[in-house]
Amino acid sequence: MGPLKLFLLIGDPVEGSLSPAMMNAAFRSLKLNHFYVAVRVPEKFLGDAIAGAKKMGIAGLNVTIPHKIAVMRYLDALDESAAAAGAVNTVKNDRGRLIGFNTDGQGALRNLEEKVGSVRGRRVLLLGAGGAARAIAFSLVEAGADLTIANRTVSRAKELASLIERGLGKRVSFLPLNRDRLKNVLREKDILINATSVGMRPKVNETLVTAEMMHEGLIVYDIVYKPLQTRLLREARKAGAVALDGLGMLVRQGALAFEIWTGRKAPVRVMESAAK
Ligand SMILES: NC(=O)c1ccc[n+]([C@@H]2O[C@H](COP(=O)([O-])OP(=O)(O)OC[C@H]3O[C@@H](n4cnc5c(N)ncnc54)[C@H](OP(=O)(O)O)[C@@H]3O)[C@@H](O)[C@H]2O)c1
Repeated sequence: MGPLKLFLLIGDPVEGSLSPAMMNAAFRSLKLNHFYVAVRVPEKFLGDAIAGAKKMGIAGLNVTIPHKIAVMRYLDALDESAAAAGAVNTVKNDRGRLIGFNTDGQGALRNLEEKVGSVRGRRVLLLGAGGAARAIAFSLVEAGADLTIANRTVSRAKELASLIERGLGKRVSFLPLNRDRLKNVLREKDILINATSVGMRPKVNETLVTAEMMHEGLIVYDIVYKPLQTRLLREARKAGAVALDGLGMLVRQGALAFEIWTGRKAPVRVMESAAK
């Protein structure tokens, strides 16, 4: 069985998270003596929670909304993936040193490419500039996608575009979330990714893009997974677009975290059925 190791998901809220079922199924299937628990940590206790986790020898953490950016200041080091994205979703306790990683970007990219092939040269409109969007944006541009970012707070879209341009030397366009502008821009896009929290429970009837703004064959990837069938995906089907839900990204980002923590290949199929 090996040594007992504990892993935490911290966020606020964490109720209804699929990660404990998915991670514990993965640990069981490899007969690891490891356990994963979700803990609600309000923003004002984040520093205490991280210090406590370190002192208790927690082996690793997943970090979710609203802590992905704030958590960085409490860590001892950042891996390249987290430093580039400016957000952390996975922490490894490496003999008392907490190292931050970001598996969201690679998780989304791997899942998307499994479904639709390489993104190289494809024109992508990404909605959002928060923790998940930042990581996805870097991974997409690194993989050769032609990226445009739209965000409600347009200054954050602009900041993300210039961060990528400085870091990767590739041009990235940005725009505000204006329906007419989005409709025009979408005409010439191959892929639309929603990395905002719009459409997430409890506001399940909200969407930033509706069927008449889409075209047949457009690939619509919604990373929201609570619920899996979002209004955006229903609108996509109405328009004859390809609708992809957020479960695949959830599983892939979790599999990458599992591999960082254990050094073992993740049982992706086991994780996928546990998360369903
Ligand atoms: N499938 C997966 O594995 C996976 C992984 C990570 C995250 N997610 C999901 O991705 C979503 C975003 O997560 P996150 O960590 O990036 O959150 P975050 O850092 O809080 O960012 C939220 C983003 O949504 C935008 N937004 C929020 N409310 C909006 C509204 N009413 N209208 C327009 N834009 C709005 C924000 O725009 P402003 O900048 O203007 O505030 C920001 O761009 C969540 O639903 C999360 O569950 C899924």
